[in-house]
Amino acid sequence: MNLRRRCAAGSRAGPSWAAALLVLTLAGCATTTPRDAFEAQRLLGRGVNLGNMLEAPREGDWGLYAQDDYLRLIREAGFQSVRIPVRWSAHAGEEAPYALDAGFLERVDHVVRVALAQQLVVVLNLHHYEELMDRPAAHRARFLALWDQLARHYRDWPARLYLEPCNEPHGALDDQAWSALAADALRTIRAADPRRIVVLGPANWNTAIHLPYLTLPEEDRRIVVTFHYYEPFAFTHQGAPWVRGADAWKGTAWSGTREETARIGRDLDRAAAWADAQRRPLYCGEFGAYREGDPDSRERWTYFVARALEERGIAWAYWEFGSGFGIYDPDAGQWRAPLRDALLP
Ligand code: GLC
Repeated sequence: MNLRRRCAAGSRAGPSWAAALLVLTLAGCATTTPRDAFEAQRLLGRGVNLGNMLEAPREGDWGLYAQDDYLRLIREAGFQSVRIPVRWSAHAGEEAPYALDAGFLERVDHVVRVALAQQLVVVLNLHHYEELMDRPAAHRARFLALWDQLARHYRDWPARLYLEPCNEPHGALDDQAWSALAADALRTIRAADPRRIVVLGPANWNTAIHLPYLTLPEEDRRIVVTFHYYEPFAFTHQGAPWVRGADAWKGTAWSGTREETARIGRDLDRAAAWADAQRRPLYCGEFGAYREGDPDSRERWTYFVARALEERGIAWAYWEFGSGFGIYDPDAGQWRAPLRDALLP
């Protein structure tokens, strides 16, 4: 509508003006092609993780399939982006050339295509490569071969698709080992796709306190830096079966006292100050509170963290859509409205 009106105005002004205006207008319409990492980060805006689907050992193993309709629901709720965790390491050869399984790649392509068609910005990551965390040197070649294949495969895809080489590096993939491997992954991706937006975060599970130990190639400015925020951990992970000792935390509330909110503010201020000094845009790729916490506390915490991130200009993605942290109940086919509204008031 707007485009047509503006172009019509242009044609009255003469052919050269019309052409120039058309070019400008089309450039304006393609607002989803990020000029730089800062614009890329702004496009992420508010997002949600499609968790427990494609990063399960096999899709469906954890009770959820990445259904096309979820992406429509996510878009219609008002989210701008979606982060898609994928366990690529379970779908590739164990020996060189470590070929990706073609059927699985097609399946991921489909999900990404549906998300892009919904006008969502997509962060496609590599999740749960546990062997890499245990033995980074032994798995380096395979990890880089995965990214070589993925970068080539996606190089002609829309610029609204961003690549995130590794979710939550930890274990033997420590600060130093990860900074070195991240640089290698970046070099691998750049060889195929120099302008793709790449999302990278620190070791120690992408925790904000490890941002200062993440060394990035200074000259590469098409990076969005990510971190995850689950503090206080005893609140967000109470009763989480995959965390040792988490049962003892059951009943931990989050009331939003001055002390509680100040702690979150301090953590995020520190992350933002680091990013400022590095001239890098920031993205909180995961935050959320597991279902064992009481609903009021979870809603309060979710609302507070989302606003605290926004106040600092940090883009975010909630962990996650439809499982244990979920803002959507796939069995009932309904939003968990209070949690969704805490994110998108
Ligand atoms: C990380 C883990 C994921 C877990 C989430 C919250 O993303 O990879 O499995 O559910 O953090 O603990």
